[in-house]
Amino acid sequence: MTYQQLLVELKNNILYITINRPQKLNALNKEVLTELAHAVATAQTNKQVNAILLTGAGEKAFVAGADISEFQNYNSAEGKQLAKHGHDHVFDAIENSSKPIIAAINGFALGGGLELAMACHIRIASENAKLGLPEVTLGLIPGYGGTQRLAQLVGKGLAFEMIFTADMITAEKAQQIGLVNHVVAQADLLAKADEILEKIKLRAPLALASAVKAVNAGFNPKLNGYQTEIEEFGNCFNTNDFKEGTAAFLEKRKAKFNGS
Ligand code: COA
Repeated sequence: MTYQQLLVELKNNILYITINRPQKLNALNKEVLTELAHAVATAQTNKQVNAILLTGAGEKAFVAGADISEFQNYNSAEGKQLAKHGHDHVFDAIENSSKPIIAAINGFALGGGLELAMACHIRIASENAKLGLPEVTLGLIPGYGGTQRLAQLVGKGLAFEMIFTADMITAEKAQQIGLVNHVVAQADLLAKADEILEKIKLRAPLALASAVKAVNAGFNPKLNGYQTEIEEFGNCFNTNDFKEGTAAFLEKRKAKFNGS
């Protein structure tokens, strides 16, 4: 696929995905969502990709939400379909990605933009970032997993407050409540993300994939997190990466994993 709305670059085993609609504050229109789904799906089977960074173009916005102009005339069935399609192909796909995904929040992360960042495994924000779920100002509720993931990340009370008031919070406040892991100056945002990604890159890829499954299972009412952990722990013993990791430790050298 040739991307029109994304900049996608594979560099040193990290896939950099930049949503590139700065004139619309990187709002998520259908094309952006289709391309994002494709970029994330193809990364899963690309052995060259160890981890993914997701950010927005420009200095003003990560993503200012779903593109309001696209759904203004939708009816109830179309609204449900919009949410379901987004969950299945983009937001859940990101959350369940076997390759760790970091969101670098470089400005506004509102509505679908915050939902996108919350679907990622780790969030880092620049000092100027503003985060919020303003859907109730439009007569809506968050529809891309926001009601669930915000409550998981910050607790039910704060999630209700953010959703009810539609207030934007600062990056500093977001860090205080556990919504983002780090806050740095905008100029240092990608460097901070790279610092974390460089560490992740050295770790056993299949173990990372198992960790994603085990952690996520605990938040999925249809699954048992502890049971998933037991199974995934056992699966790790079948991998060459496990043999390499333990051998390297005993031989006092650095492990070189190949993800098999
Ligand atoms: N959907 C569609 N277009 C959007 C958008 C969205 N979610 N967010 C911003 N844009 C567009 C604006 O319409 C504007 O387009 P235009 O120049 O063709 O008029 C452009 O992006 C710049 O935004 P603007 O509103 O002029 O910037 P601002 O600095 O005055 O305000 C925000 C920034 C983020 C506060 C404001 O754009 C905003 O409130 N956006 C919507 C946030 C929202 O409700 N998101 C949830 C959607 S479910």
